[in-house]
Amino acid sequence: MIVLETPRLMMRRLEPNDLDSLAALYADPEVRRYFPEGVLTRGETAEEIDWFRNGHPDDPRLGLWATIERASGEFIGRCGLLLWEIEGRREIEIAYLIARTHWRTGLGAEAAHALVTHGFETLGLNRLIALVHPDNIPSAKTAKRAGLYLERPLTLDGMLCHVYAIERQVS
Ligand SMILES: CC(C)(COP(=O)(O)OP(=O)(O)OC[C@H]1O[C@@H](n2cnc3c(N)ncnc32)[C@H](O)[C@@H]1OP(=O)(O)O)[C@@H](O)C(=O)NCCC(=O)NCCS
Repeated sequence: MIVLETPRLMMRRLEPNDLDSLAALYADPEVRRYFPEGVLTRGETAEEIDWFRNGHPDDPRLGLWATIERASGEFIGRCGLLLWEIEGRREIEIAYLIARTHWRTGLGAEAAHALVTHGFETLGLNRLIALVHPDNIPSAKTAKRAGLYLERPLTLDGMLCHVYAIERQVS
């Protein structure tokens, strides 16, 4: 099921066939550098695909999606919208992860921008966040490119992160 498209990308629900591609991404220590769990095994990756197979179990409109380069048909990342409960507030995070081979070609910003547009215009959400490790400069820049601003530091599960946020503008 296609969720959204951008000039260069298509995002669709994850499928069992994505296992090889996603496991390769998740096994890359550079790609997983700022994730508290670090690299994931093939088994852990399979569990994640299964978990998000029909969208997020608590809200099928959300979840992590296969991110495909339209020109080549290549699986080049996984992006999506994730649900969090933070300090008693329901929050939705834009999540973006692109293969190292495609870094610094504007695809992260293109994906993040599309996630914001999808969240606000298609799903009618009012606020989106990004949870960024303080040392993850590329992620912070990507969040800013999508219009998010640095809201506050937050300790989440014992780890410091920066909350970036954006609110829907009502005209
Ligand atoms: C974050 C990520 C998606 C960015 O992808 P990308 O395709 O390289 O992003 P873009 O080319 O669109 O660049 C977006 C911004 O980040 C900057 N950037 C990208 N890589 C950078 C790097 N290594 N060092 C400094 N800035 C960097 C770009 O210059 C650009 O900022 P600018 O507009 O101010 O120039 C990618 O680095 C990634 O997948 N990282 C691993 C997963 C991850 O940490 N995800 C975020 C979890 S919170």
